[in-house]
This record gives sequence, C-alpha cells and structure tokens, in this order.
Amino acid sequence: MAQARNRTKPLGLLAELTHRCPLGCPYCSNPLTLERREDELDTATWARVCLEAAELGVLQVHLSGGEPGSRRDLVEIAASARRAGLYTNLITSGVGITARTMRDLWEAGLDHVQLSIQDSDAVSADHIAGYKGAFQRKHALATEAVRLGLMLTINFVVHRANVDRIIEMVDLALALKASRIEIAHVQYYGWALKNRSALMPTREQVDRAVTSVEDLRRKHQGRIVIDAVLPDYHARFPKPCVGGWGRRSLNVTPSGKVLPCHAAESIPDLEFWNVRDRSLADIWASSPAFNAFRGTAYLPEPCTSCERREIDFGGCRCQAFLLTGDGRATDPVCHLSPDHDLVAKAAEIHTDAPYHYRR
Ligand code: SF4
Ligand code: FES
Repeated sequence: MAQARNRTKPLGLLAELTHRCPLGCPYCSNPLTLERREDELDTATWARVCLEAAELGVLQVHLSGGEPGSRRDLVEIAASARRAGLYTNLITSGVGITARTMRDLWEAGLDHVQLSIQDSDAVSADHIAGYKGAFQRKHALATEAVRLGLMLTINFVVHRANVDRIIEMVDLALALKASRIEIAHVQYYGWALKNRSALMPTREQVDRAVTSVEDLRRKHQGRIVIDAVLPDYHARFPKPCVGGWGRRSLNVTPSGKVLPCHAAESIPDLEFWNVRDRSLADIWASSPAFNAFRGTAYLPEPCTSCERREIDFGGCRCQAFLLTGDGRATDPVCHLSPDHDLVAKAAEIHTDAPYHYRR
C-alpha cells in the first residue's frame, strides 16, 4: 500500500539507443560493461516503447547513448517519438551525426538538441574526449542545428582539468547561439568513479566555479539560461537523484532493460524487467527494481527523523551502494550521514594519473 501511495507518473524517458560511441570520455555515464550491438532493440520495439511511454504519461524522451548517431535508424526512432506526441530531445556527442542526418531529424520533428562539449579549449576538449578533431565536428553540428532553427543546449561536464574555464565555456555557448548551457560537475559512478582522483577538483576550484556561475547568470540574464549541477562531493546535502527512485523517470537500456536510473545496474541483486517481455506500464508499476527503493519508508536514521527526507529522498541510491555497499543507506554525501567521512576524504585526493578512457 505504501508503494502504491508513493507511486507517481514518470515524466521523462531516457532512451539509451546504443552504448556504441566514437568518444571515450573518462566520466562516461554508461556502465563499465557495455551492451553489444547485436543485443540492441530494433526500430519497431523503440516505436512501441515511445507509444507506451506516452500512454503512461511521459512527456519527454531523451534519445541518448552512447552516441545515438551510431544507430542507422535514429531518424525513424525520432519520428516515432514525435508521432507518439513526445517532446523529443537528442543528446549527442556531435560526432557521428552528419549535416544531412541533422536535417532529416529536423524534418522528422526533433524538438531539441543537447550537445556535449568537453572544454572551451579545442586541444583539451579533444584530449578529454579521447578523439582528435571532435571539437571542430561539434562546432559544425551546433551551427547546423541552429541554422535549422532547433533549440540548442550545450552541456559541459566540469572537473579539475576544465573547471577554471567556465567563463570561456559560456562565451562559447553564446557564440554558438545556444539558448541554454548546462554546467554539470562530474558525478562519480562507473567510469568517473574509476577516474575519481584524476577528475576531482579542489575546494578552491569549486568555490570559484560557484561564484563564477552566479556572476555569469547576472551578466547574461535574458540572453542564455545557465543551469548548474553542483559537485556532490563538496556539498552539505545530497541531490534528490532522478527526482526520487521510481517517481519521475525511467531509463531503457540498448537491450531493453528498464532501470529507475542510468546507474541502477551497479546495485547487485536488483531484478530488472525488459520491454521485450512486458509493457512499460507493467514494469513501472510492478518491476522489483522500481519497487526496491520507492518512497522513504526504508531509509535508516538519520533520514527517518529528518525533515528533508521528502525533499532529497536520502540522496542517491547508487552512490549509497557504491560507497557503503548498502543501497538503503543514507547517501554519504550528506554531512549527517555516519559514512560522510568517505566522501570528505575522497574530495581531498587528487592525482595526475592518466585517464582510464572507456574504451
Ligand atoms: Fe537528506 Fe537523509 Fe541527509 Fe536528511 S539525513 S538531509 S533526509 S540524506
Ligand atoms: Fe542511481 Fe542516483 S544514479 S539513484
């Protein structure tokens, strides 16, 4: 009963069309073990998933990867999403999508493009992406998207190597005529956890970055929307990850597994259901993985008696598991968590080791 009361409708669907990607970013959000091309869902199944998502109340689909441009049927999938009535956002690395494909996507009804750029400095950007020439190709794709009249968001993931260039990043987004920029500090799961000490910014860098974002928002008000995702490891309270487990969003992997969040497979023993076998509505309501951490009743102290538990839901389940070995624990990012030391200590460890690229 408690689970039924806590159940809300999902608003967003992250459609991971493929794990294939020409880039190899050291903070990639894909799992350490990537799903294979031959296991990917076919075009018709993605069309059904979009339809079922719309029936379930989903408003937005994010066509993501890997690099979604690695799928030859990307345009058909985008068209299916639009036919289902979903606001359709393409999340792309900008490498692997030609001007022709961009035009076809626009004709298919694509609403929005979210382009990731690794740095405002071309050499550094290509180094972080592990792909020479990526920066130029991203630039060309952004220009083409804007020329077609598509809404453009530029996404910068920031860490120790680039966090001092936030002003230049905003200048670049303005030059590319983006309507929005997202500056997101690395979240430490999967590949990023593997590279944590090489990516970790210093406290001074984080403080400067936060001030910079506030100044830039004032300076460019009305010209560009600046969204910022704060760095977990330097925060006092955790983020309400994915808006709460099984509350607002779902994630379909390339092979059709439905996850409450992109990193959910890092928690062992969760049972994920697959869209090949069941409807999205059935999975949303009854999948053991979705019901594992719904609501807040399972949270231990200090969350049980904390007034923020319906705000942040005790933080991120994946982070709680990755750091403490217990998916039900209070996210150690919280300064009230008995495990907070794990985060505080890791935030002080910086190495100049070469990145582990995802390939
Ligand atoms: Fe959130 Fe739990 Fe920390 Fe309270 S104790 S702020 S509910 S994580
Ligand atoms: Fe899985 Fe936060 S990434 S709950």
